[in-house]
Amino acid sequence: MTFLEGFEPTGFELRRAEAGDADLVRRVLCLATGWRDDEPGYELPPGHDAYHEDWGRPDDFGVVVFVGMEFVGGAYARRVGPADGTYGFVDPDLWELSLGVEPAYRRQGLGRLLIEALKARSIEKGISGLSLSVELDNPAGKLYDAARFTIVKERDTDLLMEWRGPSSVH
Ligand SMILES: CC(C)(COP(=O)(O)OP(=O)(O)OC[C@H]1O[C@@H](n2cnc3c(N)ncnc32)[C@H](O)[C@@H]1OP(=O)(O)O)[C@@H](O)C(=O)NCCC(=O)NCCS
Repeated sequence: MTFLEGFEPTGFELRRAEAGDADLVRRVLCLATGWRDDEPGYELPPGHDAYHEDWGRPDDFGVVVFVGMEFVGGAYARRVGPADGTYGFVDPDLWELSLGVEPAYRRQGLGRLLIEALKARSIEKGISGLSLSVELDNPAGKLYDAARFTIVKERDTDLLMEWRGPSSVH
């Protein structure tokens, strides 16, 4: 896949998330919501339908990483609105990002790879950028900072962050 050339840590295979990848997208969301758990489960907390329901809408996009046949992580972006009640909503021109890597594969550069791949896809699609929410004590905040996301708002328990690509007119 040309848009990722030069990014791949060795031994992993990265591809775009397709409409048929609803289970993987849901797993990414379980990893993100279960970020405090050593062994994140497969249940989502209530109130998270807007993040993943009907995966495969024309606006949805994402990337997933495998070792052989084994799914090891993914990142995806969805266009949400204020009525969706998601934590990472900034404005309708920014797609909300969700990210997760399976615990056994963390700290090998996959988080960075996934974010850069998603940013590259955003640019390719000509969208304004990405937004997210990260809890204040989640070390993922460092990763977003390194990936040039900036803080929009600091709330009681989380940061609202955004990354604006070259086509943003903000
Ligand atoms: C956040 C997450 C996706 C990072 O994935 P990863 O593959 O471990 O990330 P990388 O290896 O690319 O790490 C890149 C940098 O992020 C920072 N970082 C990532 N995890 C960290 C941790 N647990 N503690 C401290 N720094 C961390 C470091 O600066 C790291 O660089 P380094 O390893 O050279 O020090 C992964 O830890 C994860 O899935 N966590 C649970 C889900 C989650 O929190 N999702 C985000 C919700 S907002």
